[in-house]
Amino acid sequence: MTLIELQQQVDTIKNQLDQDLAVSRPSDLSSKYLGKKGLFNQLAKEIAMVEADQRKDAGQLLNQLKQELEQKLSATEDSQQQTWVDLTMPGEQPAVGHLHPVTQAIEEITHIFERIGFTKVSYPEVDWDWYAFESLNMPPSHPARDEWETFFINQKDTTQSVEYDSNNPRKRHPSLVGGKLVLTPHTSNGQVREMERLGKPPIRMINIARCYRRQQDATHTPMFHQFEGLVIDKGITIQHLKGTLDYFAQEFYGPGTKSRIRPFHFQFTEPSFEVDFSCHICGGTGYLANEQKCRFCKSGWHEVGGAGMVHPNVLKAGNIDPEEYTGFAFGWGVERTYTLKEGLKIDDIRLLYSGDLRFLEQF
Ligand code: FA5
Repeated sequence: MTLIELQQQVDTIKNQLDQDLAVSRPSDLSSKYLGKKGLFNQLAKEIAMVEADQRKDAGQLLNQLKQELEQKLSATEDSQQQTWVDLTMPGEQPAVGHLHPVTQAIEEITHIFERIGFTKVSYPEVDWDWYAFESLNMPPSHPARDEWETFFINQKDTTQSVEYDSNNPRKRHPSLVGGKLVLTPHTSNGQVREMERLGKPPIRMINIARCYRRQQDATHTPMFHQFEGLVIDKGITIQHLKGTLDYFAQEFYGPGTKSRIRPFHFQFTEPSFEVDFSCHICGGTGYLANEQKCRFCKSGWHEVGGAGMVHPNVLKAGNIDPEEYTGFAFGWGVERTYTLKEGLKIDDIRLLYSGDLRFLEQF
């Protein structure tokens, strides 16, 4: 046998191994190639037939072949072990997620108001100062703005040249003079926007959006959600407001929950109120069955936000005649309203935005 013929046989064995590895496991091929009667040993026996002066080279060829066979068989075994899939094993169950509790609350609140004819809308979260403050009866530099410490966008204020006129609040409308842009501190910026969108009452709006304030503690987050109700029509009174509050209290918190309004001050409503709902843990009494004070509410009531009858100047800003129409508005925090829900006692609302699945998976 010549060296060339030996080389041809070496190549044939290598090719055959590649083909076999495509369809068989290396452990099943080991004896075929490297076993006592395997292809390698059969070829090695033929070295005796090689010319004496070529035996050294033939020996090297065979050594290389053996190393290559061993390497290929063990490398393929390793990679197949890593990717080996047993199709008969049961599959891994993907974790089932759910909506964030705040999104769940927004959906529930929306449905409750849609059932009594409110239309869900969304208005900008970065809006003109005019919609967030001025159209709401808060002229430039009015101290009532201080309550809504907030974030302004760094851009030129183009309104300075036009003087504020309470008889004509639309004189400084951003479509005429531009203005300052602000991260909205409340959803009340949607009030005049909705009046402009519809042009004319009846209006029954529920506006839910993110709001921004420079606050952060156990009951305040820098970003939170509010929902704003606005109803304007002929003959709307405080009774309609109170009826709507009671309806919401019972739908959201459960039958028997009552609402209460207390005098307050907002620039854009007159009269204005703070709104409380009776505590569903102690039934609004402030005491539990064992005569211990209710630790959840301490007083029988929970405050959720503000409300009132739309101020005539706000109607004027929205191009609606206050002699002909009246309306009510309310604005509450979604997080606050939600965390008061029966059975939930979240003592730090920042947990809602911590992204901690151990907390979120409870809802
Ligand atoms: C307002 O924002 C008024 N625009 C509400 C209103 C609307 C009054 C329409 C009259 C008519 P206030 O600043 O009180 O009001 O905020 C209302 C609610 O938003 C609060 O009661 C609270 O539930 C929630 N809230 C306010 N700031 C934060 C905050 N930083 N984090 C979480 N919730 C907040």
